[in-house]
Amino acid sequence: MMFCAFRVPSAVSKHGSFLRRFAVSAYPTGSSTLKSQQVRSVRSKTSETSSGGVVVSSAVKGFVLDDPGCKVVVVTSGKGGVGKTTSAASFAYGLAAAGKKVCAIDFDIGLRNLDLHLGMERRVVFDFVHVIHGECQLHQAIIKDRHNPNLHLLAASQTRDKSVLTKEGVAKVLSDLKKDFQYIVCDSPAGIENGAFMAMYFADEAIICTNPELSSVRDSDKMLGLIASQSLRAERNVAPMRQMLLVTRYQPEKVLMESMISVTDIEEMLGIKLIGVIPESDEIIQATNVGKPVISNKGNKPEDQARAAAAYSDLIDRYLGKDVPMRFTKPEAKPAGSLFGKWFKP
Ligand SMILES: Nc1ncnc2c1ncn2[C@@H]1O[C@H](COP(=O)(O)OP(=O)(O)OP(=O)(O)O)[C@@H](O)[C@H]1O
Ligand SMILES: [Mg+2]
Repeated sequence: MMFCAFRVPSAVSKHGSFLRRFAVSAYPTGSSTLKSQQVRSVRSKTSETSSGGVVVSSAVKGFVLDDPGCKVVVVTSGKGGVGKTTSAASFAYGLAAAGKKVCAIDFDIGLRNLDLHLGMERRVVFDFVHVIHGECQLHQAIIKDRHNPNLHLLAASQTRDKSVLTKEGVAKVLSDLKKDFQYIVCDSPAGIENGAFMAMYFADEAIICTNPELSSVRDSDKMLGLIASQSLRAERNVAPMRQMLLVTRYQPEKVLMESMISVTDIEEMLGIKLIGVIPESDEIIQATNVGKPVISNKGNKPEDQARAAAAYSDLIDRYLGKDVPMRFTKPEAKPAGSLFGKWFKP
């Protein structure tokens, strides 16, 4: 069946149940979406072996989920380039600014970026892979932010490939970090293979970053399937990971013109709770270029804060339990008399 991605929003709003059927039949959630070969390749790179019974390393066996002192949160998506690292940087920075002790970890081995977003790139000497290989101690690889003593980074290696991460190594690093931090924020690489698998495997909570386009929603659905079937929580058959939807690069004007999928439709397609909507904004690239997470773009008064920065601040408030209405989901009113002003009423 031919399907035009840009036609889906109207199909959704008029035929919500049709969309749900489409979503399920075209790309079913769950392990069935993963090719068995991909699953085997993920498994073969872990420290576990499967032969009817599973041999689990002691670090994995002893790993504590739902640790009362520390939450492990993965920022993930499936699709590449949707804003995971941008969001992980602002999320970690925002939690630290709220007084929480945070360590962000870059799981994107070979393509690290989180250090740039946090303005720490010149201070990376040792990284995640050095720690896993025992080439340095964990505390030697952790970089503390110069301005906020609550914010820390464990950078990814720039030169080695993602297959160096093992379940045993990651379990040990996370367990050690849990002793010192209240939140561990894992920035996942794109895809559903080893790096992304390791970033989500031990998590208590997942922020699913999705752009308002069908391919991104579909890849997020695949990631939800991986979490539901192959995370440590799934293997232990305990309460599922808390999953939160973060829609990034949102352009309400394009939703109105039916060239993007609406937040409501994305929520319906993925079936997880919305925690934030980040508008498309030039602030992001400007902030990254100066090594500052966009959430730190503060004006003198709260109403002066730039849009993307304000959207990330709202995300932090919601995450920490405040009841904050969703902003940036509707086109902004344009100055009276402008061409757009005639179309988009406040
Ligand atoms: N809200 C936004 N508005 C405009 N540009 C954005 C927004 N969010 C992210 N970007 C841009 O999108 C690009 C990808 O962002 P980012 O690196 O955070 O994505 P990613 O999901 O981590 O990518 P990868 O899968 O490669 O790790 C960057 O150029 C970033 O500046
Ligand atoms: Mg990234």
